[in-house]
Amino acid sequence: MNAQQGTTPEAAPVDTRPYSPGLEGVIAAETGLALVDGENGRLLYRGYRIGDLVERGSYGAITNLLWTGEWDPTVKLATTPVPPAVMTVLRTLPKTAKPMDALRTAVSMWGATQDITWPPTPEQAKAITAFSPSALAAFARLRAGKEPVDPDPSLDLVDGFLYQLNGERADPGTIRALDAYFVVGAEHGLNASTFAARVIVATRSDMVSAVVGAIGALKGPLHGGAPSEVVEQIHEVGSPDRAEAWVRDAVDKGVRLMGFGHRVYRAYDPRAAALRKVAESMDKKPDWLELAISIEDVALRVLAEKHPDRALKTNVEYYAAPVLMGVGLTPDLFPAAFALARTAGWTAHIIEQAAANKLIRPDAIYTGPGERELPAS
Ligand code: SDX
Repeated sequence: MNAQQGTTPEAAPVDTRPYSPGLEGVIAAETGLALVDGENGRLLYRGYRIGDLVERGSYGAITNLLWTGEWDPTVKLATTPVPPAVMTVLRTLPKTAKPMDALRTAVSMWGATQDITWPPTPEQAKAITAFSPSALAAFARLRAGKEPVDPDPSLDLVDGFLYQLNGERADPGTIRALDAYFVVGAEHGLNASTFAARVIVATRSDMVSAVVGAIGALKGPLHGGAPSEVVEQIHEVGSPDRAEAWVRDAVDKGVRLMGFGHRVYRAYDPRAAALRKVAESMDKKPDWLELAISIEDVALRVLAEKHPDRALKTNVEYYAAPVLMGVGLTPDLFPAAFALARTAGWTAHIIEQAAANKLIRPDAIYTGPGERELPAS
Protein backbone atom coordinates (compact mmCIF):
# COMPACT_ATOMS: atom_id res chain seq x y z
CA MET A 1 0.00 0.00 0.00
CA ASN A 2 1.30 3.45 -0.76
CA ALA A 3 2.12 6.06 1.88
CA GLN A 4 -1.09 8.02 1.15
CA GLN A 5 -3.17 5.16 2.44
CA GLY A 6 -0.64 4.90 5.21
CA THR A 7 -1.75 1.59 6.64
CA THR A 8 1.78 0.48 7.28
CA PRO A 9 2.56 1.13 10.95
CA GLU A 10 5.52 3.42 11.40
CA ALA A 11 8.66 1.50 12.12
CA ALA A 12 8.72 2.24 15.85
CA PRO A 13 12.17 3.23 17.09
CA VAL A 14 13.61 0.52 19.31
CA ASP A 15 12.19 1.32 22.74
CA THR A 16 14.19 -0.33 25.47
CA ARG A 17 12.02 0.94 28.32
CA PRO A 18 10.31 -1.77 30.46
CA TYR A 19 6.82 -2.74 29.35
CA SER A 20 4.56 -5.04 31.37
CA PRO A 21 0.89 -5.51 30.36
CA GLY A 22 -1.36 -4.63 33.28
CA LEU A 23 1.76 -3.29 35.02
CA GLU A 24 2.29 -6.87 36.26
CA GLY A 25 5.42 -6.98 38.42
CA VAL A 26 5.98 -3.20 38.12
CA ILE A 27 6.70 -1.15 41.24
CA ALA A 28 4.80 2.14 40.95
CA ALA A 29 4.99 3.61 44.44
CA GLU A 30 6.53 3.42 47.90
CA THR A 31 4.19 2.77 50.84
CA GLY A 32 4.49 2.35 54.57
CA LEU A 33 0.92 1.07 54.97
CA ALA A 34 0.91 -2.63 54.07
CA LEU A 35 3.46 -5.26 53.16
CA VAL A 36 1.83 -7.75 50.79
CA ASP A 37 4.37 -10.60 50.66
CA GLY A 38 3.07 -12.70 47.77
CA GLU A 39 5.77 -15.38 47.91
CA ASN A 40 5.29 -16.18 51.57
CA GLY A 41 1.60 -15.35 51.95
CA ARG A 42 2.22 -12.63 54.53
CA LEU A 43 0.22 -9.42 55.05
CA LEU A 44 1.32 -6.73 57.52
CA TYR A 45 -0.45 -3.45 58.26
CA ARG A 46 2.26 -1.04 59.41
CA GLY A 47 4.31 -4.08 60.44
CA TYR A 48 1.58 -5.91 62.38
CA ARG A 49 0.50 -9.37 61.18
CA ILE A 50 -3.04 -9.53 59.77
CA GLY A 51 -3.82 -12.61 61.87
CA ASP A 52 -2.99 -10.73 65.09
CA LEU A 53 -4.96 -7.69 63.98
CA VAL A 54 -8.03 -9.83 63.25
CA GLU A 55 -7.81 -11.47 66.66
CA ARG A 56 -6.98 -8.43 68.76
CA GLY A 57 -8.05 -5.41 66.71
CA SER A 58 -11.24 -3.76 65.58
CA TYR A 59 -11.97 -1.89 62.40
CA GLY A 60 -11.97 1.44 64.28
CA ALA A 61 -8.48 0.76 65.62
CA ILE A 62 -7.27 -0.38 62.18
CA THR A 63 -8.48 2.82 60.52
CA ASN A 64 -6.54 4.84 63.10
CA LEU A 65 -3.45 2.68 62.57
CA LEU A 66 -3.60 3.23 58.80
CA TRP A 67 -4.28 6.97 58.96
CA THR A 68 -1.87 7.87 61.79
CA GLY A 69 0.54 4.93 62.23
CA GLU A 70 -0.50 4.72 65.90
CA TRP A 71 -1.78 1.45 67.43
CA ASP A 72 -4.52 2.15 69.96
CA PRO A 73 -6.99 -0.74 70.38
CA THR A 74 -9.42 1.54 72.19
CA VAL A 75 -10.10 3.76 69.15
CA LYS A 76 -13.66 3.55 67.89
CA LEU A 77 -15.20 5.07 64.76
CA ALA A 78 -18.96 5.71 64.77
CA THR A 79 -21.01 6.10 61.62
CA THR A 80 -22.34 9.56 60.81
CA PRO A 81 -25.68 10.79 59.41
CA VAL A 82 -26.52 11.00 55.72
CA PRO A 83 -26.97 14.72 54.89
CA PRO A 84 -30.50 15.58 53.63
CA ALA A 85 -29.27 16.41 50.11
CA VAL A 86 -27.67 12.97 49.83
CA MET A 87 -30.72 11.22 51.25
CA THR A 88 -32.81 12.97 48.57
CA VAL A 89 -30.54 11.48 45.91
CA LEU A 90 -30.75 8.02 47.51
CA ARG A 91 -34.53 8.27 47.49
CA THR A 92 -34.53 9.07 43.77
CA LEU A 93 -32.35 6.10 42.81
CA PRO A 94 -34.24 3.22 41.19
CA LYS A 95 -34.79 0.35 43.65
CA THR A 96 -33.05 -1.84 41.07
CA ALA A 97 -29.83 0.23 41.20
CA LYS A 98 -26.74 -1.83 41.98
CA PRO A 99 -25.50 -1.19 45.52
CA MET A 100 -22.05 -0.22 44.20
CA ASP A 101 -23.66 2.36 41.89
CA ALA A 102 -25.71 3.66 44.82
CA LEU A 103 -22.61 3.92 47.04
CA ARG A 104 -20.57 5.59 44.28
CA THR A 105 -23.40 8.10 43.71
CA ALA A 106 -23.88 8.78 47.42
CA VAL A 107 -20.16 9.40 48.03
CA SER A 108 -20.00 11.68 45.02
CA MET A 109 -23.06 13.67 46.14
CA TRP A 110 -21.70 13.80 49.71
CA GLY A 111 -18.46 15.26 48.36
CA ALA A 112 -20.43 17.98 46.57
CA THR A 113 -21.96 19.01 49.90
CA GLN A 114 -18.58 19.22 51.68
CA ASP A 115 -15.62 21.55 51.32
CA ILE A 116 -12.98 18.95 50.54
CA THR A 117 -9.73 20.85 49.98
CA TRP A 118 -6.11 19.97 49.25
CA PRO A 119 -4.19 18.38 50.85
CA PRO A 120 -6.13 15.24 51.81
CA THR A 121 -6.21 14.76 55.61
CA PRO A 122 -7.01 12.04 58.18
CA GLU A 123 -10.07 14.13 59.14
CA GLN A 124 -11.39 13.89 55.56
CA ALA A 125 -10.59 10.16 55.60
CA LYS A 126 -12.50 9.68 58.83
CA ALA A 127 -15.48 11.65 57.50
CA ILE A 128 -15.81 9.59 54.30
CA THR A 129 -15.24 6.28 56.09
CA ALA A 130 -17.88 7.09 58.72
CA PHE A 131 -20.45 8.39 56.23
CA SER A 132 -20.34 5.58 53.67
CA PRO A 133 -21.85 2.79 55.84
CA SER A 134 -24.83 5.06 56.64
CA ALA A 135 -25.37 5.71 52.94
CA LEU A 136 -25.23 2.02 52.00
CA ALA A 137 -27.54 1.03 54.86
CA ALA A 138 -29.99 3.77 53.86
CA PHE A 139 -30.02 2.62 50.23
CA ALA A 140 -30.51 -1.02 51.24
CA ARG A 141 -33.51 -0.09 53.42
CA LEU A 142 -35.03 2.31 50.89
CA ARG A 143 -34.96 -0.29 48.11
CA ALA A 144 -36.77 -2.66 50.51
CA GLY A 145 -39.46 -0.04 51.11
CA LYS A 146 -38.21 0.78 54.62
CA GLU A 147 -37.16 4.08 56.12
CA PRO A 148 -33.46 4.66 56.85
CA VAL A 149 -32.28 4.36 60.46
CA ASP A 150 -30.24 7.20 62.02
CA PRO A 151 -26.75 6.33 63.29
CA ASP A 152 -26.19 5.50 66.96
CA PRO A 153 -23.01 7.46 67.86
CA SER A 154 -22.29 5.08 70.75
CA LEU A 155 -21.67 2.15 68.40
CA ASP A 156 -18.38 1.29 66.64
CA LEU A 157 -18.60 1.35 62.86
CA VAL A 158 -19.50 -2.29 62.07
CA ASP A 159 -21.98 -2.56 64.97
CA GLY A 160 -23.52 0.74 63.86
CA PHE A 161 -23.68 -0.30 60.20
CA LEU A 162 -25.55 -3.53 61.05
CA TYR A 163 -27.91 -1.58 63.32
CA GLN A 164 -28.68 0.93 60.53
CA LEU A 165 -29.08 -1.90 58.02
CA ASN A 166 -31.39 -4.11 60.11
CA GLY A 167 -33.09 -1.58 62.41
CA GLU A 168 -31.93 -3.59 65.45
CA ARG A 169 -28.67 -4.45 67.18
CA ALA A 170 -26.83 -7.48 65.83
CA ASP A 171 -25.65 -10.22 68.20
CA PRO A 172 -21.98 -10.03 69.34
CA GLY A 173 -20.92 -13.01 67.18
CA THR A 174 -22.27 -11.38 64.03
CA ILE A 175 -20.62 -8.06 64.88
CA ARG A 176 -17.30 -9.81 65.54
CA ALA A 177 -17.46 -11.71 62.24
CA LEU A 178 -18.20 -8.64 60.14
CA ASP A 179 -15.61 -6.59 62.03
CA ALA A 180 -13.02 -9.28 61.24
CA TYR A 181 -14.02 -9.04 57.57
CA PHE A 182 -13.62 -5.25 57.65
CA VAL A 183 -10.18 -5.60 59.28
CA VAL A 184 -9.11 -8.07 56.61
CA GLY A 185 -10.54 -5.96 53.78
CA ALA A 186 -9.22 -2.60 54.97
CA GLU A 187 -5.93 -2.40 53.07
CA HIS A 188 -3.92 -4.34 50.49
CA GLY A 189 -1.18 -2.30 48.89
CA LEU A 190 -1.41 -1.20 45.28
CA ASN A 191 -4.46 -3.22 44.20
CA ALA A 192 -6.38 -1.92 41.20
CA SER A 193 -8.84 0.28 43.10
CA THR A 194 -6.17 1.74 45.37
CA PHE A 195 -3.96 2.44 42.37
CA ALA A 196 -6.92 4.17 40.71
CA ALA A 197 -7.31 6.35 43.79
CA ARG A 198 -3.63 7.25 43.75
CA VAL A 199 -3.73 8.17 40.05
CA ILE A 200 -6.65 10.50 40.65
CA VAL A 201 -5.25 12.27 43.71
CA ALA A 202 -1.83 12.55 42.05
CA THR A 203 -3.33 15.21 39.76
CA ARG A 204 -4.05 17.20 42.99
CA SER A 205 -7.70 16.32 42.69
CA ASP A 206 -9.59 15.75 45.94
CA MET A 207 -10.03 12.74 48.22
CA VAL A 208 -13.71 12.24 47.36
CA SER A 209 -13.02 12.12 43.61
CA ALA A 210 -10.31 9.55 44.28
CA VAL A 211 -12.63 7.39 46.42
CA VAL A 212 -15.38 7.58 43.78
CA GLY A 213 -12.90 6.35 41.18
CA ALA A 214 -11.76 3.57 43.49
CA ILE A 215 -15.35 2.39 43.99
CA GLY A 216 -15.69 2.16 40.22
CA ALA A 217 -12.54 0.04 39.98
CA LEU A 218 -13.49 -2.25 42.87
CA LYS A 219 -16.87 -3.05 41.28
CA GLY A 220 -15.37 -5.33 38.63
CA PRO A 221 -15.63 -9.14 39.09
CA LEU A 222 -11.87 -9.51 38.71
CA HIS A 223 -11.49 -7.38 41.83
CA GLY A 224 -14.13 -6.66 44.46
CA GLY A 225 -17.03 -8.10 42.53
CA ALA A 226 -15.78 -11.65 43.06
CA PRO A 227 -17.41 -12.74 46.35
CA SER A 228 -20.97 -12.55 45.02
CA GLU A 229 -19.83 -14.69 42.07
CA VAL A 230 -18.24 -17.16 44.50
CA VAL A 231 -21.72 -17.84 45.90
CA GLU A 232 -23.12 -18.36 42.39
CA GLN A 233 -20.39 -20.84 41.47
CA ILE A 234 -20.78 -22.81 44.71
CA HIS A 235 -24.53 -23.08 44.08
CA GLU A 236 -23.86 -24.13 40.47
CA VAL A 237 -21.72 -27.01 41.71
CA GLY A 238 -24.46 -27.92 44.16
CA SER A 239 -22.93 -30.97 45.83
CA PRO A 240 -19.45 -32.38 46.66
CA ASP A 241 -19.79 -35.26 44.21
CA ARG A 242 -20.27 -32.80 41.33
CA ALA A 243 -17.25 -30.65 42.24
CA GLU A 244 -14.55 -32.51 40.26
CA ALA A 245 -16.48 -32.53 36.98
CA TRP A 246 -17.70 -28.95 37.35
CA VAL A 247 -14.29 -27.53 38.20
CA ARG A 248 -12.52 -29.43 35.41
CA ASP A 249 -15.11 -28.35 32.86
CA ALA A 250 -14.90 -24.72 33.99
CA VAL A 251 -11.10 -24.56 33.92
CA ASP A 252 -10.96 -26.33 30.55
CA LYS A 253 -13.36 -23.69 29.20
CA GLY A 254 -11.19 -20.89 30.60
CA VAL A 255 -13.85 -19.91 33.16
CA ARG A 256 -12.28 -18.12 36.11
CA LEU A 257 -12.88 -19.86 39.43
CA MET A 258 -13.97 -16.92 41.55
CA GLY A 259 -12.00 -16.62 44.77
CA PHE A 260 -8.86 -18.19 43.31
CA GLY A 261 -5.70 -16.73 41.85
CA HIS A 262 -4.12 -13.40 42.63
CA ARG A 263 -1.82 -10.91 40.94
CA VAL A 264 0.54 -10.91 43.93
CA TYR A 265 -0.06 -13.98 46.11
CA ARG A 266 1.69 -17.14 44.96
CA ALA A 267 0.92 -18.67 48.38
CA TYR A 268 -2.39 -19.08 50.19
CA ASP A 269 -3.88 -15.63 50.88
CA PRO A 270 -3.50 -15.15 54.66
CA ARG A 271 -6.82 -13.28 54.65
CA ALA A 272 -8.60 -16.34 53.27
CA ALA A 273 -7.14 -18.41 56.11
CA ALA A 274 -8.29 -15.82 58.66
CA LEU A 275 -11.80 -15.61 57.20
CA ARG A 276 -12.15 -19.39 56.92
CA LYS A 277 -11.60 -19.56 60.69
CA VAL A 278 -14.18 -16.81 61.19
CA ALA A 279 -16.71 -18.55 58.93
CA GLU A 280 -16.25 -21.91 60.67
CA SER A 281 -16.73 -20.28 64.09
CA MET A 282 -19.96 -18.45 63.18
CA ASP A 283 -23.26 -19.58 64.73
CA LYS A 284 -25.06 -18.50 61.56
CA LYS A 285 -22.61 -19.98 59.05
CA PRO A 286 -24.28 -20.65 55.70
CA ASP A 287 -25.36 -24.27 55.19
CA TRP A 288 -23.09 -24.48 52.11
CA LEU A 289 -19.83 -23.83 53.98
CA GLU A 290 -18.83 -27.51 54.05
CA LEU A 291 -19.57 -27.69 50.32
CA ALA A 292 -17.37 -24.62 49.76
CA ILE A 293 -14.51 -26.30 51.64
CA SER A 294 -14.80 -29.46 49.56
CA ILE A 295 -14.92 -27.45 46.31
CA GLU A 296 -11.83 -25.50 47.41
CA ASP A 297 -9.83 -28.72 47.78
CA VAL A 298 -10.81 -29.80 44.26
CA ALA A 299 -10.17 -26.36 42.77
CA LEU A 300 -6.67 -26.09 44.24
CA ARG A 301 -5.76 -29.53 42.91
CA VAL A 302 -7.18 -28.94 39.41
CA LEU A 303 -5.65 -25.46 39.10
CA ALA A 304 -2.25 -26.85 40.11
CA GLU A 305 -2.61 -29.58 37.49
CA LYS A 306 -3.78 -27.24 34.69
CA HIS A 307 -1.45 -24.34 35.52
CA PRO A 308 1.69 -25.89 37.00
CA ASP A 309 3.60 -22.74 36.06
CA ARG A 310 1.36 -20.41 38.05
CA ALA A 311 0.55 -20.85 41.75
CA LEU A 312 -3.23 -20.30 41.80
CA LYS A 313 -4.32 -20.37 45.42
CA THR A 314 -7.41 -19.35 47.35
CA ASN A 315 -7.80 -15.58 47.73
CA VAL A 316 -9.64 -13.46 50.27
CA GLU A 317 -12.92 -13.46 48.35
CA TYR A 318 -13.52 -17.20 48.66
CA TYR A 319 -14.10 -17.09 52.41
CA ALA A 320 -15.39 -13.54 52.41
CA ALA A 321 -18.50 -14.98 50.75
CA PRO A 322 -19.61 -17.28 53.63
CA VAL A 323 -18.75 -14.64 56.24
CA LEU A 324 -20.80 -11.94 54.49
CA MET A 325 -23.67 -14.36 53.90
CA GLY A 326 -23.49 -15.46 57.53
CA VAL A 327 -23.84 -11.90 58.84
CA GLY A 328 -26.99 -11.53 56.80
CA LEU A 329 -25.87 -9.51 53.76
CA THR A 330 -27.37 -10.42 50.38
CA PRO A 331 -24.73 -11.25 47.73
CA ASP A 332 -25.40 -8.09 45.76
CA LEU A 333 -24.27 -6.11 48.83
CA PHE A 334 -20.93 -7.95 49.07
CA PRO A 335 -18.91 -5.64 46.76
CA ALA A 336 -20.25 -2.55 48.52
CA ALA A 337 -19.36 -4.07 51.91
CA PHE A 338 -15.83 -4.58 50.55
CA ALA A 339 -15.81 -0.91 49.47
CA LEU A 340 -16.83 0.19 52.99
CA ALA A 341 -13.93 -1.77 54.47
CA ARG A 342 -11.40 -0.67 51.84
CA THR A 343 -12.25 3.02 52.26
CA ALA A 344 -9.73 3.07 55.13
CA GLY A 345 -6.95 1.81 52.86
CA TRP A 346 -7.92 3.97 49.91
CA THR A 347 -7.93 7.13 52.02
CA ALA A 348 -4.65 6.20 53.71
CA HIS A 349 -3.00 5.77 50.31
CA ILE A 350 -4.53 9.05 49.12
CA ILE A 351 -2.93 10.85 52.08
CA GLU A 352 0.37 9.04 51.47
CA GLN A 353 0.36 9.88 47.75
CA ALA A 354 -0.39 13.55 48.36
CA ALA A 355 2.37 13.82 50.96
CA ALA A 356 5.05 12.87 48.40
CA ASN A 357 3.20 13.57 45.23
CA LYS A 358 4.27 13.01 41.62
CA LEU A 359 1.81 12.95 38.75
CA ILE A 360 1.24 9.31 37.69
CA ARG A 361 1.46 9.21 33.92
CA PRO A 362 2.96 6.07 32.28
CA ASP A 363 3.70 5.84 28.56
CA ALA A 364 2.44 3.46 25.86
CA ILE A 365 3.98 1.77 22.84
CA TYR A 366 2.34 3.27 19.76
CA THR A 367 1.06 0.59 17.38
CA GLY A 368 -1.08 2.79 15.17
CA PRO A 369 -0.54 3.89 11.55
CA GLY A 370 2.61 5.75 10.62
CA GLU A 371 2.52 9.49 9.87
CA ARG A 372 0.35 10.04 6.82
CA GLU A 373 -1.43 12.71 4.78
CA LEU A 374 -5.16 13.22 5.06
CA PRO A 375 -6.85 11.87 1.93
CA ALA A 376 -7.71 14.64 -0.55
CA SER A 377 -11.38 15.48 0.14
C1 SDX B 1 -9.05 -9.13 44.88
O1 SDX B 1 -4.71 -6.96 43.85
C2 SDX B 1 -5.26 -7.16 45.02
O2 SDX B 1 -4.66 -7.05 46.05
C3 SDX B 1 -6.73 -7.50 44.94
C4 SDX B 1 -7.37 -7.90 46.27
C5 SDX B 1 -7.43 -6.74 47.24
O3 SDX B 1 -7.45 -6.98 48.46
O4 SDX B 1 -7.56 -5.58 46.76
O5 SDX B 1 -6.62 -8.97 46.84
C6 SDX B 1 -8.82 -8.35 46.11
O6 SDX B 1 -9.35 -8.55 43.88
C7 SDX B 1 -8.81 -10.60 44.90
C8 SDX B 1 -9.06 -11.27 43.52
C9 SDX B 1 -10.58 -11.47 43.37
N1 SDX B 1 -10.86 -11.93 42.01
C10 SDX B 1 -11.15 -13.23 41.74
O7 SDX B 1 -11.15 -14.12 42.59
C11 SDX B 1 -11.49 -13.49 40.28
C12 SDX B 1 -10.81 -14.78 39.81
N2 SDX B 1 -9.33 -14.54 39.75
C13 SDX B 1 -8.79 -14.11 38.52
O8 SDX B 1 -9.57 -13.58 37.56
C14 SDX B 1 -7.30 -13.77 38.53
O9 SDX B 1 -6.66 -14.70 39.29
C15 SDX B 1 -6.93 -12.38 38.98
C16 SDX B 1 -7.65 -11.33 38.21
C17 SDX B 1 -7.22 -12.21 40.43
C18 SDX B 1 -5.43 -12.21 38.76
O10 SDX B 1 -5.22 -12.33 37.42
P1 SDX B 1 -3.80 -12.02 36.74
O11 SDX B 1 -2.76 -11.77 37.78
O12 SDX B 1 -4.00 -10.98 35.70
O13 SDX B 1 -3.40 -13.40 36.09
P2 SDX B 1 -3.97 -13.90 34.71
O14 SDX B 1 -5.40 -13.51 34.56
O15 SDX B 1 -3.00 -13.52 33.64
O16 SDX B 1 -3.95 -15.50 34.90
C19 SDX B 1 -2.75 -16.22 34.68
C20 SDX B 1 -3.16 -17.60 34.26
C21 SDX B 1 -4.17 -17.53 33.11
O17 SDX B 1 -3.97 -18.64 32.30
P3 SDX B 1 -3.84 -18.32 30.71
O18 SDX B 1 -5.07 -17.56 30.35
O19 SDX B 1 -2.57 -17.48 30.57
O20 SDX B 1 -3.73 -19.69 30.11
O21 SDX B 1 -3.85 -18.26 35.33
C22 SDX B 1 -5.19 -18.54 34.96
C23 SDX B 1 -5.50 -17.67 33.76
O22 SDX B 1 -6.45 -18.34 32.95
N3 SDX B 1 -6.05 -18.13 36.06
C24 SDX B 1 -7.16 -18.74 36.41
C25 SDX B 1 -7.65 -18.03 37.51
N4 SDX B 1 -6.84 -17.01 37.78
C26 SDX B 1 -5.85 -17.07 36.86
N5 SDX B 1 -7.79 -19.82 35.90
C27 SDX B 1 -8.94 -20.19 36.53
N6 SDX B 1 -9.49 -19.56 37.59
C28 SDX B 1 -8.87 -18.48 38.10
N7 SDX B 1 -9.40 -17.85 39.14
